Amino acid sequence: MDVIEIIRAKRDGGTLTPEQIDWVIGAYTRGEIAEEQMAALAMAIFLQGMDRSEVSRWTEAMLDSGERLDFSDLARPTTDKHSTGGVGDKITLPLTPTVAACGAAVPQLSGRGLGHTGGTLDKLEAIPGWKASLSTEEMRRVLTTTGGVICAAGSGLAPADRRLYALRDVTGTVESIPLISASIMSKKLAEGTGSLVLDVKVGSGAFMKDLASARELARTMVDIGNDHGVRTVALLTDMESPLGRQVGNALEVAEAVEVLSGGGPADVVELTVALAREMLLAAGLTPGEGGTRDPAEALRDGSALASWKELVREQGGDPDAPLPVAAERRVVLAPTGGVVTRLDAYQVGLAAWRLGAGRARKEDAVSFGAGVTLHAKPGEEVKAGEPLFTLHTDEPERFDRAAEALEGAFDIGAGDEWKPSPLVIDRIA
Ligand code: URA
Repeated sequence: MDVIEIIRAKRDGGTLTPEQIDWVIGAYTRGEIAEEQMAALAMAIFLQGMDRSEVSRWTEAMLDSGERLDFSDLARPTTDKHSTGGVGDKITLPLTPTVAACGAAVPQLSGRGLGHTGGTLDKLEAIPGWKASLSTEEMRRVLTTTGGVICAAGSGLAPADRRLYALRDVTGTVESIPLISASIMSKKLAEGTGSLVLDVKVGSGAFMKDLASARELARTMVDIGNDHGVRTVALLTDMESPLGRQVGNALEVAEAVEVLSGGGPADVVELTVALAREMLLAAGLTPGEGGTRDPAEALRDGSALASWKELVREQGGDPDAPLPVAAERRVVLAPTGGVVTRLDAYQVGLAAWRLGAGRARKEDAVSFGAGVTLHAKPGEEVKAGEPLFTLHTDEPERFDRAAEALEGAFDIGAGDEWKPSPLVIDRIA
């Protein structure tokens, strides 16, 4: 096989053969293809796309580059959720214990945040003692004991993706639907879940800014999952404005605990319940029937909260310990009165990032207490001079740049200028 021929074929709009795909992924993982050649191929794929059979084979080749976990012998059916990432997206935290409390098992391999979106592991690491890295044996033990586990993917899972993702990150080739789909699905198939629910975000704070691209990404991933024997469905959900009222690691853990205690913001509760029901159905369980609790009931009756505490403890954390709090706070006041008609998720995410909640490079540390509290969400009224945002940081010199990010992030107008839009936009199965 000749890598230059493969690059030329894709550059000119051709379809790669299964043999070419297997060879190129295998050789790249073994370090036999130069980074610049793989970068050229990634750009050719970005520009020319891949058809369904190519994406499927590309995913399979990345899956085969590493180990594949197997939880098919567990007493409970397994199911997982993957979100394409958003601002204030702490849903995994209430969702995993809720689904566990309803009777399925959730093996959840999560990531860290990069850029304006947060990462589940960064949020959970705000809990004193909580450990993200587990061996496969530890993962199995926690999953068997509690019905859920949230941990970092080991380096043995889809190693081809690890290398390729780092390369795409620095070559302007991340935003390619076939490459995103294969990247996400190779890791999800490797984690050994029996079924999968995808939360594909659309809007200013998401990878996919428009509905047509989000739909295409969802369709591609759902097809890959089902083609590989993992029952997969996707919900397209709104990410024009942040989820909930807290953006930032420890702030989001506290909000997740509110939801698990039967309270919390309506949008976080709605999405947690919608995704939990989909996960149970995908796992072959019917919520509210035959001994399977309904997720809304699990949030109300304390069983989801009990499951959360168990899950945190099993991974070394203290669920009752106080969470880190930022050293400094600054309140941003509403310049005029009226109804919030727009709150831009990307800009709020950027402000939280500038306050220290996120990282610029993989090796950076995050500040657990940093972030933004939203006092008024779209559709809510504020009076001039009332708090609109509270900014939290350990380093006060970060305030000004964060406040700048929020300057054009909202509109306040008359009530009739605001139309509610659905949180769950569509379902793709
Ligand atoms: N998340 C991933 O894991 N891979 C991508 O390509 C994009 C987002």
